Amino acid sequence: MKGEIKAHWNGRAQDYDKNVRQVIYSNREREAWQKIFVQALSNEHLKILDVGTGPGIVANLLVDLGHDVIGVDVSDGMLRQAMDNSEALHHSLEFVQGDGERLPFESGTFDAVVNRYVLWTLPDPKRALVEWKRVLKPGGRLVVIDGTWYMRNKPLNKQLWQKLSVLLIMLTERRVPHYQDLNDDIRDNLWSTNLKRPEADEDLLKSIGFKQIRIVNALNKRLLTNLDYLKNGHSGERFLISGVK
Ligand SMILES: C[S@@+](CC[C@H](N)C(=O)[O-])C[C@H]1O[C@@H](n2cnc3c(N)ncnc32)[C@H](O)[C@@H]1O
Repeated sequence: MKGEIKAHWNGRAQDYDKNVRQVIYSNREREAWQKIFVQALSNEHLKILDVGTGPGIVANLLVDLGHDVIGVDVSDGMLRQAMDNSEALHHSLEFVQGDGERLPFESGTFDAVVNRYVLWTLPDPKRALVEWKRVLKPGGRLVVIDGTWYMRNKPLNKQLWQKLSVLLIMLTERRVPHYQDLNDDIRDNLWSTNLKRPEADEDLLKSIGFKQIRIVNALNKRLLTNLDYLKNGHSGERFLISGVK
């Protein structure tokens, strides 16, 4: 399963990077993300680990906010994009290849562990969360941002919304959108595609002993313009959940 996931992300590294890079280059979305991270973390200078950093978008946003950041990812393809993106921004930050479920760091190393769009793809989320807690200092904060993507039994209204969004994209962007689906084997084996979230995440964090758990729902509305929400909101709701060690 891990091998398949790594191959999946290696294969998508360049396309994924191209799609999410607009976060760095569009002021509107970058500012919205920065506000989200400032609210979730503090304004102090923190030592942060970004797990599943991918092309390093979040890692670079956090450097802009004045933090020291290390990004870790299992995919060498993604890490190459991350290094190119950091170089283009003249940021110097460290990227390490490694598995988020067996991190190559001592216990109690980081003030914060963040990850965006990673937990849903992990075969054993509990194990990952235990590991992320291990590398946090006592009192350190975990921030998970994720979404309800690729759910099995997508409700009818979302299926209809997706069809209408194709028309809207064709009219406003003069292109036919291509929705890349997950390999069925991966989807059927993922914990996240069949559970109600973020409720399931909250149960996991509690069971591992995280305290002061906070949930911020409906991030899509904060990140997207109304038109972009109509075009893309059908693919899943984004949320943030955080907790303190
Ligand atoms: C959807 S991408 C998110 C990338 C980035 N966090 C972002 O917000 O743009 C998921 C990332 O998680 C990484 N990943 C998946 N499983 C992992 C694991 N076990 N350990 C470390 N990284 C992993 C993938 O290689 C990929 O870069």
